[in-house]
Amino acid sequence: MSVLIKNGRVVTAADDYHADIYIEGERIALIGKDLQVNADKVIDATDRLVIPGGIDAHTHFDLPFGGTHSADDFETGTRAAAWGGTTTCIDFALQTKGESTLKGLDTWHAKADGKATIDYGFHMIVTDMPDERLPEMERLALAGVTSYKLFMAYPGVLYVDDGTLYRAFRQAGENGTRIQMHAENGIVIDEIIKEAVRDGKFEPKWHGLTRPTRMEAEGVHRSIAIAEVAKVPLYIVHLSCSDALDEVKRARMRGVDVIAETCPHYLFLDMDYYFQEGFEGAKYVMTPALREKWNQEVLWQGLAMHHLETVATDHCPFCMVGQKDLGKESFTKIPNGAPGVENRMSLIYDGGVHKGRMIVNRFVEITSTSPAKCFGLFPRKGTIAVGSDADIVVFNPNRTETISYDNKRTHHMNCDYSAYEGFEVTGWSEVVLSRGRVIIEDDSQVTQGGGQFIKRARCGELLR
Ligand code: URP
Ligand code: ZN
Ligand code: ZN
Repeated sequence: MSVLIKNGRVVTAADDYHADIYIEGERIALIGKDLQVNADKVIDATDRLVIPGGIDAHTHFDLPFGGTHSADDFETGTRAAAWGGTTTCIDFALQTKGESTLKGLDTWHAKADGKATIDYGFHMIVTDMPDERLPEMERLALAGVTSYKLFMAYPGVLYVDDGTLYRAFRQAGENGTRIQMHAENGIVIDEIIKEAVRDGKFEPKWHGLTRPTRMEAEGVHRSIAIAEVAKVPLYIVHLSCSDALDEVKRARMRGVDVIAETCPHYLFLDMDYYFQEGFEGAKYVMTPALREKWNQEVLWQGLAMHHLETVATDHCPFCMVGQKDLGKESFTKIPNGAPGVENRMSLIYDGGVHKGRMIVNRFVEITSTSPAKCFGLFPRKGTIAVGSDADIVVFNPNRTETISYDNKRTHHMNCDYSAYEGFEVTGWSEVVLSRGRVIIEDDSQVTQGGGQFIKRARCGELLR
């Protein structure tokens, strides 16, 4: 199968020019002006941007959490991602405490195998790491799992102590791999939650009110200090606020290898959402919690100024009926997480480029190129170049849509609400190709399945 994308404006993290792109099989074969080649399929990209497919480096499909499972599995989640212009997700395999991380990886392969429509990789959530299990980390790297998430939050569930952090950080550093940190002081937050519960405070808003930004900043500070001593590249996931960003900036100024990600919900939503009528606030119960609105502009600025390097969704959907309502009696029982994998590209283009906060190259960088570079996918993915996978989005910078659960173009996630209900966005992924296969075209999905597991490279290595 060959595809010719004609007359588009090709935008990468570095370039911006008009050209045709010829795809042979799964990869880009030629880029040039007025290419005179025959192709099985021709796509006219006049007045459209032609950008690398989005890479969402933080999704949770089929994750057991909070007494239930996240509502999207690898079939529905990757399909929704494709609708939104994302062509690679990096999801999280989970180590069961006391068991092998390799067993966790097998479990996640079984969940994903044959189901995905776009390509995917795995980070490994490490829940314990005694000395005798440290060699597993090299075996994970050889299996293409070159990043490991550890949690300072969720005591009794995913939380690990500082000794475990240090051991895992040291080993990851020696192996040339990366650590991801859920940075929140979960031990103190649990005490604050106990105080609230003791005082009879059970509504969803108390989720937001029991997780101060200082406790996130403290986690960021501590994990950076441990990473510095352990000599491992660090990646702070889902950074939500100015307090935490200050810690990242300070460390980067000293030359520490720390990169931070934020998420669309911290850029578009704020803690007032917890104060909605009745149980509505449960839709936004995620960790870290939504913050005071003024933080949003600080995060946008952080993205434009390269203090924040990526935007990922932390897509972890739970339906209001049958899942979020497990916490009807107490916010402590509401499963943490929200949907978003489908909306990221449009939201960030709209808030970033359309609203004048960043240039279009930076949009491509934070949604595709930077995650590819951070997580060992570049240059196979994350750019438009001869030899790269033909993961390409023909993007209409002028098309406006209103995101809604009821809008059949904006909601394919298996979740009974949209976190961005009623948001009008300008910028739309019209044609989506994954390794040369057209997945989305003319507002319909034309290909199902075919996504592959991608073995990722180590830090500083290229993936070809
Ligand atoms: O609320 C969230 N973020 N749920 C997913 C798990 C995590 O901490 O990333
Ligand atoms: Zn987390
Ligand atoms: Zn997450």
